[in-house]
Amino acid sequence: MKNSTPMVKAANIHKFFGRKNHVLKGIDLEVSKGETVVILGASGSGKSTLLRCINFLEEPTAGTVEVDNIVIQAGEKHRDRDKKILELRKRTGMCFQAFNLFPHMTALENVIEGPITVLGQKKREAVQYAEELLEWVGLTEKRDEYPSCLSGGQQQRVAIARSLAMKPTVMLFDEPTSALDPELVGEVVEVMERLAKEGMTIIAVTHELHFARDVADRVMIMDQGTWVEEGTPEKIFNNPDEMRTRQFLAHIL
Ligand SMILES: Nc1ncnc2c1ncn2[C@@H]1O[C@H](COP(=O)(O)OP(=O)(O)O)[C@@H](O)[C@H]1O
Ligand SMILES: [Mg+2]
Repeated sequence: MKNSTPMVKAANIHKFFGRKNHVLKGIDLEVSKGETVVILGASGSGKSTLLRCINFLEEPTAGTVEVDNIVIQAGEKHRDRDKKILELRKRTGMCFQAFNLFPHMTALENVIEGPITVLGQKKREAVQYAEELLEWVGLTEKRDEYPSCLSGGQQQRVAIARSLAMKPTVMLFDEPTSALDPELVGEVVEVMERLAKEGMTIIAVTHELHFARDVADRVMIMDQGTWVEEGTPEKIFNNPDEMRTRQFLAHIL
């Protein structure tokens, strides 16, 4: 599901770690509102770094990032910059491989924390929405459980609910299922799939083939900090142009 309004625009993103390690080499990425983009590529190619640059968890060395009309240039200095970065982060939900829930808080408390402390919501309002989100991810019965009592799949679903509680306009997923036991992967992918169907704009680094093939609108292949090729899932999986795409797919298929 997509239309033509760009929701995320990254232009000419470069990232160096130190002087020599040029990890992103002029990456461009445009994602439309409601579009689901899957990024694939070998380990070390720069996928996580790109996601982290998009929400300024990592400062790009050069380039411009635009999320939902908030434009931030690498290295620019002005008074409102920190405020702009905070705004951009609020609009950008992120879900990582490690679930990163607060261990001393219940599922519900994890979900209401951001809305109360960052968005300034009233507790009652935050709880009501958190309950809706926990129901949406299928965890109504777990609202008062601590993370240590939840399976990895349940923890990751709480983490997704926690991100959604901030009402992001874009969700970034960085290998959200790669730390899970195989039998728990499906329940997390199912939630991501529903999110895509409901019109969320999604950028996902995931090697879950069902998601890449059947849910993504577009698949992009990264290698050594540049794009190799992009296209519809049909194109990329059935008839890629590039040898490097074929080689990469041969590893994961
Ligand atoms: N904080 C960091 N400091 C130094 N090097 C880093 C850092 N983060 C990532 N890198 C390097 O950047 C490259 C790309 O890493 P990453 O973005 O994690 O790739 P991917 O997610 O595709 O596996 C790797 O060579 C990695 O070692
Ligand atoms: Mg990574």
